[in-house]
This record gives sequence, C-alpha cells and structure tokens, in this order.
Amino acid sequence: MNIKSVLSNRINHAMILAGISANCDPQIHRSSKMKFGNYQVNGIISVAKKNGQIPSELAKLVVNYLDLDDIANKIEIANPGFINIFLKRTWLEQQINKLLQLPCLGIDRVSPQNIVIDYSSPNMAKEMHVGHIRSTIIGDAVACTLSFLGHNVIRVNHIGDWGTQFGMLIAYLDKKKNKYQENMILSNLENFYREAKNIYDKDLNFAKCAQEYVIKLQNGDEYCRDLWQKIVNISIAQNQKIYERLNVSLMPNHVMGESSYNEMLPEIVADLRKKGLAVISEGATVVFLDEFKNKQGNPMGVIIQKKDGGYLYSTTDIACAKYRYEKFHAERIIYYIDSRQHQHLQQVWSIVRKAGYVPESVSLEHHAFGMILGKDGTPFKTRSGNIIKLSDLLDESVERALKLISKKNPKMSQEKLKILSEIVGIGAIKYAELSKNRISNYIFNWDQMLRFDGNTAPYIQYAYTRILSVFRKANININHLIDDITLTEEYEVRLAIHLLQFEESLIQVAYDGTPHIMCSYLYELASLFSNFYEHCPIILNKNNQTCKSRLQLAALTAKTLKQGLNILGIQTVQYM
Ligand code: ARG
Repeated sequence: MNIKSVLSNRINHAMILAGISANCDPQIHRSSKMKFGNYQVNGIISVAKKNGQIPSELAKLVVNYLDLDDIANKIEIANPGFINIFLKRTWLEQQINKLLQLPCLGIDRVSPQNIVIDYSSPNMAKEMHVGHIRSTIIGDAVACTLSFLGHNVIRVNHIGDWGTQFGMLIAYLDKKKNKYQENMILSNLENFYREAKNIYDKDLNFAKCAQEYVIKLQNGDEYCRDLWQKIVNISIAQNQKIYERLNVSLMPNHVMGESSYNEMLPEIVADLRKKGLAVISEGATVVFLDEFKNKQGNPMGVIIQKKDGGYLYSTTDIACAKYRYEKFHAERIIYYIDSRQHQHLQQVWSIVRKAGYVPESVSLEHHAFGMILGKDGTPFKTRSGNIIKLSDLLDESVERALKLISKKNPKMSQEKLKILSEIVGIGAIKYAELSKNRISNYIFNWDQMLRFDGNTAPYIQYAYTRILSVFRKANININHLIDDITLTEEYEVRLAIHLLQFEESLIQVAYDGTPHIMCSYLYELASLFSNFYEHCPIILNKNNQTCKSRLQLAALTAKTLKQGLNILGIQTVQYM
C-alpha cells in the first residue's frame, strides 16, 4: 500500500489534462504540518515558472481536473501554488482493512532488479575497528530493505586481501622461521603486521624481500599462496563472528576480495592500452582523465600498473565493476565506502564507462558516509588515543545495557539479563549508526544511544514490548484478531495514516540508501502509538467493537515495528 503512488497517478493524470508535459514530477510529499493536510503537491510551482504561467492559476486548473472524490475530503490551494490534500477517514479505513488481509504488511512487490551491494570490505590481517561499523551496518540495512522489496540483491564483501601487507607478513613469518604458523589468531597477525611494518620501514633488505613476495604471491607462487590463504582464512573466520554478533546478513560466501580479480588484470591493462585509454608514462601504465585535473591544472593520471609490474587498488576496482556487470548482470551497483574514496571511485567509473565495460544504463552509486567522532570532535579513539576495536566497542555497549536493564529489573535472572542486554546493547549501537544521515560525521555518544526515550533502539523496542503486554494482560493472542478497524478518534486516524506509510519509507530507503528514513519512521510510529495509547483506552470491554478495533490497530503497530526493526537488523524482545 502506497498512498503517495496512488496520489501520484491521479495527479499526473490531472496534470496531463491541464496541458502539462507527462514527465513533470508532481513532487508529492507528506505535509509537514497538519494544517497543510496529509499530503502536499509541490511540483506545480516549478512547472508554472518554467512555462511562464501563474502558479496558483495552474494549480487551480490541475485541481479542476483532479478526481480524488473517493480519497480526499478536502483539496486546498495554498500560495503560491501548492495543493494540499486532506484524506478521507472512510478511505483510510478501507485501505487499512485491506492491508490487514494482505501478507507482508501489504507491501507491493517491485519489478526486481539485480543489485550488487559492496559493503563492509575490511582489510585482512587486521581486526575490524570502529571505522568499519558504518559500511557494515548501513550497507546491510539497505541490502535487507532491497531484498524485502523483492530485488535480487548480490552482497559482496570486497575484502582487502591483496597487496603489500601480505608481502610484509610473509617476509616476517619467514624471518621468524614460520614458528607462528600454527594456532595463529587475528590479534597475533595484527601484531606481526605492526612489527613487520617497523622492520620494513628501517631495513632495506627486508623491504625488498617483502616486495618480492608480493610479486610472487600475485604470480601464483605456491608457498606464498598457501601462507596467504591461511592468513585470509583466519581473518574471515574472526570477522564472521562479528557479523553474527551484529546480526548482519553477510556470510563467508559473500566474500569476493581484491585477489579474485587478479587474473583479469593483465587483460584489462592490455585492453585499455589497445583502446588508447592507457599510455606508458615513466615506466608505469597510466590512464589520463581530462575531467580530473591535478594541482597544475593538467589531466590527472590514474596508474593502473606500476613500473615493477604490480597492479593497484584502482585496477582491481575497474575489473570488479566489469565483472559485476558481466557476471552478475548488475543493473545497479552500490558502494558503501567512506567519503574519502569518492574521487577514487569517480575515476574508476569514468574509466569503465569509457572502456565500455559498464554501460550508462547501469547505475553506479557511491553511498558515502562521514566519520564517527569523539566528544571532542576528532576521530573517535580510545582514551589512550588508539583505534577502537569493533569487538571491544560491542562488549562495552552490552555491558552498559546490562547495567541499565538490571537496574530496571532487579529480579530478573542472570540468564535472561544476559540475553536481553546483548540484544539491547547491539541494537542500540546499530540504531545510533543507522538513525543518523550517513552523509555527515556524527559524535559517538553512549548515553544518548542507550536512552529509553527519544530516537533510540531501546525506545522503539520498549514500545513494542508495551503493545505485547496489552495483549498479555487481556489474555488475547495478537495473531488471532479478525475484526476490522474503525477510525473514530483523531489519534486513531493519525496512527492509521502512519501505518499506511510504511511502504513509502521503505521505497525511499531503497532509492537513496538512507536507513535513517526508516529509523525516523519507526520512531514516529512508536510516538504516535504512545499518544493513541494514552488517549484511547484499548481494553474497556473485550467484546466491545471499539476495543476490538483498537486491538487490531495495536497489533498492526507491533507487527510494523517488528518488521521495520528486523529490516534494520535489530531484534525485538518480549519484555524489557
Ligand atoms: N578495503 C577497502 C578499505 O578498507 C574498502 C573496499 C571498498 N570496496 C571497493 N570496491 N573498493 O578502504
């Protein structure tokens, strides 16, 4: 059910009858204030301006042709040329009762697209840290939204499993006579890497040896491959535990790291040269792009093969875009990578378009995000200034949740407390991440994210438990309601309209890759329910029609809250 698209169809039709070209967007939005109705049409003003017409006159003309008799009880024109639409109670009632009969909360299936989502993508041989949380969590919420709508989503974890760090590690393990090869864990590797880097920076022989190992590895040397595979496997296994704890849908079979494209690279370089896009410059192979200028104002060069024959991050990204189009038949490719890599992606895409590897019809999207900052406004770090490991961050959130919940429920068993605090702690951290507009930096704040009021996971999880407790107290099964909803009080109407807008929010998240829209939706839903609950007593008399209708409204709210949180990868609980 999508009110906006119902209105769009009718308004588009009226606009055409009023002589407006068919591809003009009516720009329908939910009204910001109740006095402007439930929806407003903003698009008439710009059309009128473009055509040299008076906006209010054009709006009048459109309204003359607009047939909303069954849907709206009032249509108003507001200066300079907005159209405000007030929905009819009876129509809303019909819609919400229709929705009750449908599976999946009445969400219409879309015509499915093949959508590749590149997210999480940490570098190997290092533990995941706080910097990985945004790509992992936002990417996953969008992947789940798109699958829920019926798209064919191809999740790709483009891990950094290729490059100089492996040469250093292999050289280091060699130096230590491989004695650490058995029982290695990721934190060992991270220390080895740190030590290796120290030696690399000081010892020329070691550096040379490390570089040789990289080339050997890339050329398929068995010893190097073996050791490399071990290191990568250790990293993948450990990261998988974090994904599971985070309730993120990435699985080991979604891993398709940089190394997977190794065999494509020589062909790509040769092909780009053949096409005249790449040239040799100072021994390296470079693509010069006119649309990117360097500091001197000359076309910027993107190196795709180094002098020593080594390939680069960009070369791999060119190959991977080509692969995703050719093998996955991607129609849309979305990258969740921090905003600092924007230029890198733009350059890669410019090359793949020019080379004809990915046609213009395939949308390439960088869903960038800002940084997580500490209270002082600098990148979020530990007190001693170190990078925060993701697993430590999750532990701390769960610990804080445990304290809060045990204070609220002094009699709860340890076992229940443990389960509950894991769900609440992880939910809080994920929601804090998802509820911010991804474009901007945000300040990490433990107290804010664990509050039981405001736009937080605990608030919404708690609202859900309150609804369940209404049913528990009345001894009614939430899944066995059969009655229709009647909308009498204004609080009921407002709640019903919002319930009918779930699909609109999903569509917007799917389009822009902005889960904060879903968070705001759920927060508003929980708040509207709270108002309704306060003003409209639910359980008066179980056989009373009003009571049955209100129970149905409460049940639909609970289902929508649960479904919404579920899509964001946040669990609900029965009580808290
Ligand atoms: N491993 C990279 C990093 O940590 C992110 C990879 C993102 N995906 C891509 N196709 N480049 O910065």
